[in-house]
Amino acid sequence: MSEATKLPLKQKDFLQLADFSGEEIHYLLEVAQEMKAQQKQGIPHPYLSGKVLGMIFEKSSTRTRVSFEVGMLQLGGHAIFLSSKDIQLGRGESISDTAKVLSRYVDGIMIRTFSHDSVEELAEHAAVPVINGLTDLHHPTQVLADWLTILEHKGKLAGLKLCYIGDGNNNMAHSLLEGAVKVGMDISIASPPGYLPNEMVMEKAIVAGKQTGATVMVTNNPVEAIKAADVVVTDVWTSMGQEEETSLRLQALSNYQVNEELCKHAKDDFLFLHCLPAHRGEEVTAGVIDGPHSVVFDEAENRLHAQKAILKVLLSK
Ligand code: CP
Ligand code: NVA
Repeated sequence: MSEATKLPLKQKDFLQLADFSGEEIHYLLEVAQEMKAQQKQGIPHPYLSGKVLGMIFEKSSTRTRVSFEVGMLQLGGHAIFLSSKDIQLGRGESISDTAKVLSRYVDGIMIRTFSHDSVEELAEHAAVPVINGLTDLHHPTQVLADWLTILEHKGKLAGLKLCYIGDGNNNMAHSLLEGAVKVGMDISIASPPGYLPNEMVMEKAIVAGKQTGATVMVTNNPVEAIKAADVVVTDVWTSMGQEEETSLRLQALSNYQVNEELCKHAKDDFLFLHCLPAHRGEEVTAGVIDGPHSVVFDEAENRLHAQKAILKVLLSK
């Protein structure tokens, strides 16, 4: 283990990237890189032998569920899938009682839910670390994996320009904003009126950016936002829980598609990222997501490595 892996995190939980310093984010990325190398070389790394992660899901998931479950197994531990349909939380048991009870059995809790306040409440009452596996407001484990992917392909984060096109008011846009400014990456977001980022998240990001020199730009103009971007990111136009707004959103966001024409304004060697699942023909064309600039499957794989770093650091404290 390198010196950096001995650096403790101040936080008990992993709830949103604004809670961490740029140094702490880089520390987690370094742990992720070490464990990825160990896994690729077939070197066992059972840092969480005998530990158990409880995973509460109130929304669907492919990547998050599988990568956390496989990650715990590779670390020598075990994960329990707890669908809110099957546990008492779904029948009205309180979040605080759930947190206190689960803390008597498991060593950490991962939760995917709707309201970010629910995750904060769970963390407040849990004696064990709580990891945010996506809320309506944030998706921090995804962005840690995104930073790992960019680092692998570009060799650095600070000084790059990341552009996000689409629904600026969703979990991905917010976590990208919070994460970019912490690592010194400029971020530009292009969204239609009514779909701009949450004001509090944006204000905090602008302040954090002043410390690292990272700039934040929010515009209604996709061409302006994507100019000279090193990394281009988008996400679904209708997030989980917003299904009733689908046709309204298709219309409102129709000029915010990441396509070959728009990408001509990015740098020649830009990377394309998407957390997946994707809707080809809506937020992104097949030509872009299946094209030479796309690293979406490296990005999906890196969920595993980034989360193993979070698990190792938080659960072995
Ligand atoms: N990117 C992501 O979180 O995927 P899932 O919804 O499949 O977990
Ligand atoms: N914004 C998307 C991300 C899915 C991983 C959603 O919340 O559905």
